[in-house]
Amino acid sequence: MNTATLDLYTPVKATLTKVIEESPTIKTFVLKPEQEFHFKTGQFIELAMEGIGEAPFTPSSSPLVSDQIEVTIMKAGFVTEKIHKLSEGAVLGIRGPYGRGYPLEEMYGKQVLVMGGGCGFAPIRSLLYNLEAEKDKIKKLTFCYGSKTPKDCIYKDYIDHLRAVDKFEVFRSVDKADETWEEREGVVTNLLDEIKINVEESVAVVVGPPIMMKFSVQKLLELGFPGHKILLSLEKNMSCGLGKCGHCMMGKYFVCKDGPVFTYEEIKDQPDIWK
Ligand SMILES: Cc1cc2nc3c(=O)[nH]c(=O)nc-3n(C[C@H](O)[C@H](O)[C@H](O)COP(=O)(O)OP(=O)(O)OC[C@H]3O[C@@H](n4cnc5c(N)ncnc54)[C@H](O)[C@@H]3O)c2cc1C
Ligand code: FES
Repeated sequence: MNTATLDLYTPVKATLTKVIEESPTIKTFVLKPEQEFHFKTGQFIELAMEGIGEAPFTPSSSPLVSDQIEVTIMKAGFVTEKIHKLSEGAVLGIRGPYGRGYPLEEMYGKQVLVMGGGCGFAPIRSLLYNLEAEKDKIKKLTFCYGSKTPKDCIYKDYIDHLRAVDKFEVFRSVDKADETWEEREGVVTNLLDEIKINVEESVAVVVGPPIMMKFSVQKLLELGFPGHKILLSLEKNMSCGLGKCGHCMMGKYFVCKDGPVFTYEEIKDQPDIWK
């Protein structure tokens, strides 16, 4: 095994410095790695808890910061429940980064339409940090975010921040509103009926639960977006993260190595893309 491969397999120790409660089921974990950790927006890491196991997550922090990494995690099962119980001072392992991140160069000079659902805001936040730092290179950014209820909306302070960023606009919708909610009600794809977007000069990014991605892609195609201008971030069951074990196979692709970011054009004929 060469050194580069060994490095990708060997976890870097990282100390938990802060836990932020984002919603009843989602928390952000701020980690301080014992050495600098670099990643590209859209790439993922394997986060390991000793004696428990590991799971893949896409960092939600800025890829331009290497001495701290944030991971936003939804409680889903065994490993994520154990991670949710951790408090400051706990030591975890990070290996990676793995896969292909967002092709930022495809966004330069364009309008970027970003659609997020639920915990899909996590990888999107990393992308938005990156694009905010490079906002001179894009024409405009429109972010449409949907969640089930107002309580499930994450990164509330960050949303306020985004609304003040030049060239950025934010639209939010919840499936079921309550008396506190002053924004849209309905599925996130309805927001596409309200926004002004010049499809010819745009690129779209979609991240969220499979059902949300399926209907978002359908609507984007109806609006005239070609498949090669729709970027998707896929979550498949993963183990090695390196294209060795085959757990993440989707047709001809290893999602861990060839993705997790794909254009719709690349994957539209592969099996089970929305599972
Ligand atoms: C590239 C990538 C990036 C991800 N980024 C994030 C992120 O930023 N934040 C976040 O909260 N989650 C993310 N996930 C999903 C996360 O990895 C799973 O929720 C986690 O592995 C579940 O582990 P568990 O042991 O807690 O659950 P388990 O006990 O293993 O399973 C509980 C339930 O979750 C389902 N599940 C297990 N693994 C996955 C998976 N990989 N994708 C979807 N469903 C799964 C199982 O089918 C089962 O229904 C990402 C997944 C991938 C592949
Ligand atoms: S996770 Fe092992 S091949 Fe993709």
